[in-house]
Amino acid sequence: MRTERELIDKLRDTRALTREEWVQVIEGRDEDAARYLFETARAIRHAVYGRDVYIRGLIEISNYCKNDCYYCGIRRSNRLADRYRLTAEEILACADTGYALGFRTFVLQGGEDAYYTDALLGELLREIKRRYPDCAITLSLGERGEESFRCLFEAGADRYLLRHETASPVHYASLHPPELRLDNRKECLYALKRIGYQVGSGFMVGSPGQTAENLAEDMLFLKELSPQMVGIGPFIPHHDTPFAHCPAGTVELTLFLLGLLRLMLPHALLPATTALGTLSPQGRELGILAGANVVMPNLSPAASRKKYMLYDNKLCTGDEAAESLNSLKKRMKSIGYNVVVDRGDYKI
Ligand code: 5AD
Repeated sequence: MRTERELIDKLRDTRALTREEWVQVIEGRDEDAARYLFETARAIRHAVYGRDVYIRGLIEISNYCKNDCYYCGIRRSNRLADRYRLTAEEILACADTGYALGFRTFVLQGGEDAYYTDALLGELLREIKRRYPDCAITLSLGERGEESFRCLFEAGADRYLLRHETASPVHYASLHPPELRLDNRKECLYALKRIGYQVGSGFMVGSPGQTAENLAEDMLFLKELSPQMVGIGPFIPHHDTPFAHCPAGTVELTLFLLGLLRLMLPHALLPATTALGTLSPQGRELGILAGANVVMPNLSPAASRKKYMLYDNKLCTGDEAAESLNSLKKRMKSIGYNVVVDRGDYKI
């Protein structure tokens, strides 16, 4: 059997482990392995992206959602969620603010809300691109049909984030109601790639029932999909969901998986996520030091931020807020990294 260090080296050379090796590297991890992994991950990240940190202005456009995912605070069954949706004008105002602050990517994220038709979004995308032709637009609006994805791409969307959540069908079925299917989710991801989007996928770390075998499956699926972006963050319970009493995932395992992702997909855009920052005050910095190269501050209007509560205590102020960009810049500088004014595209 290979040692932990040999497995990390194997990943560096061939970037492919077998299912059994993934389980071993995940289960066998310790502080020593993590130190070695993060050093290697940083070296790879520096070779591809230098010490630049890309920023994305996150605009949470709606917390209406037709889905009922058991983990999510804005699931349709949560009658206590205070629902809102932003108008095109409000979204454009966020983009104006963001552009002035130095953002060159806007991420429009929301629940699956039928209010946002292809026509409405198409018009909005065209207007953002008219005002800011030097910016990239990322959508994160859940599952839609291939024709819709195509229409939005033609209107100016450059990237699409759609986490697969877990690549194990049985685990997927334990996190979602029966009408949501892993096959569908994967089909959406392949459609997005075919159309020409830069695609992001990802999963929650420590979601209820997750095993090392499930995580091995996630790594194998991501290797096959080879997305340009991978978002992972710890699962954090929300008090008004069926998983209210489940334990949160850990910062430690999230960081270790970030390091492994950097080795497996050297060119990937990997965010140090809000969930990581929510669980630990140093979460963002630790994420960057484990191999991440993106942060996504919140550009949503102040009044709606508290309503986009996917999980308890989700950060939306302080250094999580786009207005605090200077403080974020300082924090990144203090660990040797530079926040840049750049679209931050995937480097081939
Ligand atoms: N904890 C952590 N992440 C969550 N998400 C949804 N609910 C939670 C939660 N309770 C993540 C999902 C989704 C993304 C937008 O937020 O992975 O894809």
